[in-house]
Amino acid sequence: MAELINFAKVSLSNVNKENPKVSEEGGEQNQKEEPVTMITKHFQEVDPAAALASARHEFGEHGGVNMSIEASATFTVMEADILRRLCVGELGPNEDYFVYSRQFNPTVLNLGRQMAALEGTEAAYCTASGMSAITAALLQLVGAGGHVVASQCLYGGTHALLSRFLVHACGIKTTFVDMNNIEEVRSEIRSGETKVLYVETMSNPTLVVANIPVLAAVAREKGIKLIVDNTFTPMIVSPARLGADVVVHSLSKFISGSADAIAGAICGETSLVSSLTSHQDGALMLTGPTMNAKVAFEISERLPHLALRMKEHSTRAMAYATRMKRLGLKVIYPGLPDHPHHSLLSSIGNPEYGYGGMLCLNMGTEARANKLMQHLQNVTQFGLMAVSLGYYETLMSCSGSSTSTELLPEERAKAGISLGLIRMSVGYSGTLEQRWAQFEQALALMQQQPKNLNAEVLCALFGKFIISKSLMKVHLACTK
Ligand SMILES: Cc1ncc(COP(=O)(O)O)c(C=O)c1O
Repeated sequence: MAELINFAKVSLSNVNKENPKVSEEGGEQNQKEEPVTMITKHFQEVDPAAALASARHEFGEHGGVNMSIEASATFTVMEADILRRLCVGELGPNEDYFVYSRQFNPTVLNLGRQMAALEGTEAAYCTASGMSAITAALLQLVGAGGHVVASQCLYGGTHALLSRFLVHACGIKTTFVDMNNIEEVRSEIRSGETKVLYVETMSNPTLVVANIPVLAAVAREKGIKLIVDNTFTPMIVSPARLGADVVVHSLSKFISGSADAIAGAICGETSLVSSLTSHQDGALMLTGPTMNAKVAFEISERLPHLALRMKEHSTRAMAYATRMKRLGLKVIYPGLPDHPHHSLLSSIGNPEYGYGGMLCLNMGTEARANKLMQHLQNVTQFGLMAVSLGYYETLMSCSGSSTSTELLPEERAKAGISLGLIRMSVGYSGTLEQRWAQFEQALALMQQQPKNLNAEVLCALFGKFIISKSLMKVHLACTK
């Protein structure tokens, strides 16, 4: 048991964290400093699925093929003094001792071990949500009065955390920049004050791709930490293998895959996890966004098929993006050769995983975007109007009026979020051709006059397949 906990630690034998350009096998392959504007190809290519499969498999207490769920909040000991030693940090999971599940729980640590293997970090710790993972990582690494340089293209919640909440709560200030303008990034880093560079691998919702090797080089040079939110691209990109110090995740998305859990993870060095879980001054231990052991078990069971799911998300998104473009639609997808970061993602992405399951469609106006989404959900059943992402069904939302409303209009404009932008998390249920036919049908309905879309026509066309609650009422009324 002790062996398996070890702070969810995995071997870093394949990765040299100090300088990802130097592999352990090959020694100093390329010690010469390269200009940081170059995309380097010296990082270690490790298939994250292989890394995950190499991590220790945890069996159940009675030899079950699945691990057992440790549902206890508290743990008993045989000698009274052990409790004291646990509380002052002399004993812990590495010695197979647990004291209280807000700090360490064996099942949650197992999921952490898998996440560390997936992301190629020394350790990982799972939390109650993606936001709590982000908040704890920032609080621990920046501290009161510190400064962050962050991408101007971030998930609305993270943007609000940095632009407002952390300023009021503890004086942490953030400068938002175009992360692909490396000179701007460098010039905003304040010596002694800036502690963190913060970026999303692929930004929510605009799908801007971060040049992680270059940002990692800048962070190293300036002695600060690079935190990367990899929520959009698990398996597809491995930020820590590209030099990032910390990788955060909302596990609520692709990693859970079923839109039935809210969860997060922080992947990084063992020393970071130790500091986060310290009884004395750990951001996680003291603010307490603990993951429930049952949630950890559920998510852990889904990691083995994450690689398959991500590949299918990518395949579908690539097919739809290509066909949408052919139809003359304004589609944003990093897999398309004309996306400004297509070659960047091709060079930093893990081979075989594609370009991700997220695409954006710019319909010009909010009204047109809403109309298309309504047809796609209520008439042709292509997908569902909902926030979030990574589900097996396609999810669609207008980010400008939903998940990015935390940004001020001028911040949204800077980030490239127009009101007509539909963000799609492309699912894999049904067949590709079936779903594409549904998309084309909805598009065709956009050409028709509104009167053609009254309830009777909908019922006649699609009968009992109408799914929204309000339309279901209409449907029942007209089939009476
Ligand atoms: C990129 C990104 N990071 C973090 C979060 C927050 O995750 P959670 O909802 O699990 O707290 C989200 C949520 O949408 C997100 O899109």
